[in-house]
Amino acid sequence: MKATARACSNIALIKYWGNRNDALRLPANPSISFNLADLFTATRVVFDPALQEDEVVIDEQPASPEAARRVSAHLDLVQANRPRAQVISSNNFPMGAGIASSASAFAALTVAACAALRLPKPEAELSALARRGSGSASRSVPGGIVAWRDASAWTIAAPDHWPLVDVIGVVAAGHKKVGSTEGHALAGTSPLQAARVADAERRFGLCLRAIETRDFGLLADVIEQDALMMHGVMMTSDPSLMYWLPGTLAILHAVREMRAAGVPVAFTIDAGPNVHCICEADAVRDVVAALDALQGVQSTLVSGIGGPAQVILPQSAG
Ligand code: DP6
Repeated sequence: MKATARACSNIALIKYWGNRNDALRLPANPSISFNLADLFTATRVVFDPALQEDEVVIDEQPASPEAARRVSAHLDLVQANRPRAQVISSNNFPMGAGIASSASAFAALTVAACAALRLPKPEAELSALARRGSGSASRSVPGGIVAWRDASAWTIAAPDHWPLVDVIGVVAAGHKKVGSTEGHALAGTSPLQAARVADAERRFGLCLRAIETRDFGLLADVIEQDALMMHGVMMTSDPSLMYWLPGTLAILHAVREMRAAGVPVAFTIDAGPNVHCICEADAVRDVVAALDALQGVQSTLVSGIGGPAQVILPQSAG
């Protein structure tokens, strides 16, 4: 009753912010993301009837009570009346810094737990289950460029359709003060959220078209507008969520300058201060060099588009 699975993080091009049903994590608006091949979580789940309670270890440390409760609740959803489990999870990127660790974490946990319990499920069901743990995790189950609207997410393009790259300018690597779950619940307190949601289908459609036709100019305009609309909602929520730091703004200006000079790069920002610079493969060197030269940028992380969540060790092994 054990299995290990690996899932990529993902970066949203059209953002999920706010739920139409918080308990079920059904999103207020459709979103689009791509999986990040080089930023991933590997999770081993061992169900053991001899255990008195679940044991959860994240990045070699016992999980906080809050994180452990979220993991246990998720395992209860995968199977009611299950044996207790040992869960050992490790990320190869900093947690809680606006790089979606909950997405890869709940995708890997879902796939590993279902494999350990011998519950074969189609991808859409795994995605829907992962969604209950963390909304964006629904998008880390399928591979490539992925869309999510209702219960589950699906692939809209394979990784090699358009080899986009995410160059992340890390401005701060600590834990963010207000996590996404709390943030989603605040979205409706902003008078801008209704307008953002009402316009979401338009942005979703434009982003789909940009991907289908590999039109970088169209992609750049729509993803930057989408990210700024989400941060407009965040900043105008009650209480106000202000994730940006001076380094964030420095990167936004640098990206706009590079694009004006002909470099195919555009920005997006999650619930944190770091900036994801989405670019075409041949622009990566210039983008990394430009970010490295900015004050306030601690480091850069680079990733291309990744595949689906997968079992990496057979149930019987180790
Ligand atoms: C800003 O999926 O992390 O990254 O469902 O509460 O776990 P929970 O929220 P989460 O929210 C992600 C928000 C975002 C945008 C996005 O990834 O679409």
